[in-house]
Amino acid sequence: MNPLNGIPSTVPKGAPPVRHFLQFTDFTNEEIHYLLDRAAFIKHKFKTFVRHHSLVDRTLAMIFEKASTRTRVSFEAGMYQLGGSVVHLTTGDSQLGRAEPIEDSAKVISRMTDIVMIRTFEQTKLESFAAHSRVPVINGLTNEFHPCQILADIFTYIEHRGLIGGKTVVWVGDGNNMANTWLQAAAVLGFHLRVSTPRGYEVDEKVAVTPHGMGAGSYKTYSDPVEACKGADLITTDVWTSMGFEAENETRRKAFAAWCVNAEMMAAAKPDALFMHCLPAHRGEEVAADVIDGPQSVVWDEAENRMHVQKALMEYLLLGRQD
Ligand code: CP
Ligand code: NVA
Repeated sequence: MNPLNGIPSTVPKGAPPVRHFLQFTDFTNEEIHYLLDRAAFIKHKFKTFVRHHSLVDRTLAMIFEKASTRTRVSFEAGMYQLGGSVVHLTTGDSQLGRAEPIEDSAKVISRMTDIVMIRTFEQTKLESFAAHSRVPVINGLTNEFHPCQILADIFTYIEHRGLIGGKTVVWVGDGNNMANTWLQAAAVLGFHLRVSTPRGYEVDEKVAVTPHGMGAGSYKTYSDPVEACKGADLITTDVWTSMGFEAENETRRKAFAAWCVNAEMMAAAKPDALFMHCLPAHRGEEVAADVIDGPQSVVWDEAENRMHVQKALMEYLLLGRQD
């Protein structure tokens, strides 16, 4: 009770614990399917110019410690479309860049906004923020995971080819944040995952597999990327050098030379196989121009779908199920 005006306290008591989306395994198979269905509903309304203002007066804080085009635009446009507003922070223009502890930042930002998206380096930093946040926190990419991207990728697969359960997905390239998240998604959704990386750049199970063992054994490794692509339903890749690893660029260029998704790899897959890339892409490095710009590529749908799935995600974290 506020002694000045008798208005009841606004500090929530007995409220359910806040949900976050820090890695793909934070949601069950059933929750992921709800989100994908809801994203399709929200996308249809957007495409037919029907207003969908489920988050009026809510504010999203976006914190970027690494560069972004898609993540920034998709979250920002998406939140405005839901009737809410956005605050954009970067390391350089906030106290985060002047060593204010992440825990203190979380306590303050989460008192003034309703939901937070963070793109940063170590997953542990994101987890520290979430542990001290009063509001839901979304992983907008860390060194370890990129769960919003995989949500969009799976939504895109379903739009083009139907349910992904039982299908064969091939990861070609670096055992990075995207690969780790595919591995988790395979465990949650039950599709077959093949991973082909150069030696020394394998997926690190200590990172990708949860403490409960979720993700273990959800994939097979292949030393030959063409072999991995045989009979595949979806081939996907990413840059050879992720943000934060730029010092390794030249070494990686040599190590990854045979891990360029090209016409030979696409020809080894099923005739109706799709190609995906989270973007930004480097034509002539991890993917040949005739593949990313060819008829099997769905990279532009994939990029757009970030916005639709993230609208469903923000709505779910703030309001719960809407059906
Ligand atoms: N795919 C993706 O996350 O792109 P940005 O780095 O541009 O946000
Ligand atoms: N693996 C890439 C993804 C960029 C969207 C990176 O972390 O830089």
